[in-house]
Amino acid sequence: MENVILVTGGAGFIGSNFILHRMERDPDSIVNLDKLTYAGNLRSLEAIAHDQRYEFVRGDIADRELVRSLLDRRRPRAVVHFAAESHVDRSIRGPDDFIHTNIDGTFALLEEVRAYWGNLDRQEQAAFRFLHVSTDEVFGSLGPGDPAFSETTPYAPNSPYAASKAASDHLVRAYHHTYGLPVLTTNCSNNYGPLQFPEKLIPLMILNAREGKPLPVYGDGQNVRDWLYVEDHCEAIAIVLATGVSGETYNIGGWNEKRNIEIVEIVCDLVDEIAGRRGKSRRDLITFVKDRPGHDRRYAMNASKIERELGWRPRETFESGIRKTVRWYLENDSWVRDVTSGTYRQWIETQYSS
Ligand code: NAD
Ligand code: DAU
Repeated sequence: MENVILVTGGAGFIGSNFILHRMERDPDSIVNLDKLTYAGNLRSLEAIAHDQRYEFVRGDIADRELVRSLLDRRRPRAVVHFAAESHVDRSIRGPDDFIHTNIDGTFALLEEVRAYWGNLDRQEQAAFRFLHVSTDEVFGSLGPGDPAFSETTPYAPNSPYAASKAASDHLVRAYHHTYGLPVLTTNCSNNYGPLQFPEKLIPLMILNAREGKPLPVYGDGQNVRDWLYVEDHCEAIAIVLATGVSGETYNIGGWNEKRNIEIVEIVCDLVDEIAGRRGKSRRDLITFVKDRPGHDRRYAMNASKIERELGWRPRETFESGIRKTVRWYLENDSWVRDVTSGTYRQWIETQYSS
């Protein structure tokens, strides 16, 4: 076993932030296996592309031969599994890719990792970790007065995306219970920050606000999400990987519940402040549109286990994190132009045409 971590989905939003974060702080080498779907972007990793400790491999986690040869060649001490189809609205319009990657892909990866791990010596087996990155959406929807999700909240996924992630969580759990594979699962709330594909609420609103386009808020805008700055999530994953107890799950959250409309208003005010106002406030661009089918009303995370047992708490406040994020999108126009060409325009056209 080498000092290598195999990261899947490392060209996506959280995966690329994680790789940049780890390469700066850790001597381990990183192999990034990513299919480069519409959501994967190698520009995000330009800063480390030529680092000798980094290797990029383009491929599908469901390609078992590829995964097998990669594990044999690089002999990682851990796998951090981000690769997924991640956008709820896309899962509603077409769930197939979600089943392929999130369920079949995770299954294929687990099978190959189980075989690889089975051939390690005892000491290496004990040290090995498979960290599965999951979401709070597997727990379903909360009412206004309900307690936040904890690690023991029963699963009740509502969208095809959430159901596919729930299925993958169950597979990971079963591989620990049945085969003894040393797994860790993290369930995290909504991330925001640099390098997020602008189909998701915050970057979509920043870019539309900058361009004076309508800001499409689903339903009545009162749906609540818990928001966490992406770097805090990356740090939490690193801590779970280093010190988490095999077989355990850890909730990760920002202790920061906000209604969607509040988020959009904050974004409008920051774009007004940073990019300058052209007369009217950008809040005037807010447009209430048809609701997302089956739209979960509220998510909230109780992240006290990871704080109590592993000593992690978010560092960033929402006020500082959202300011950094808005500034980043306004200052990184060439990254934005790169990811918003072609297929992105097509998606926006389909999703918001009516
Ligand atoms: P993303 O959509 O930005 O990136 C996904 C990455 O996976 C892309 O680079 C894509 O090319 C790659 N990928 C997709 N299918 C693949 C396949 N079959 N084989 C190899 N690579 C493939 O997603 P994200 O927002 O960075 O989320 C990463 C993980 O974190 C996901 O598992 C997601 O469920 C989970 N998560 C996300 C959030 C959030 O707020 N974004 C919150 C909690 C958990
Ligand atoms: O909770 C964690 C999850 O957060 C992750 O597992 C998912 O991968 C990630 O995409 C995110 O899911 P959401 O559905 O919460 O994120 P999204 O940014 O799509 O939407 C956030 C909220 O904003 C949600 O209530 C829907 C609403 N929304 C979204 C868009 C894109 C709008 O009102 N208008 C929009 O145009």
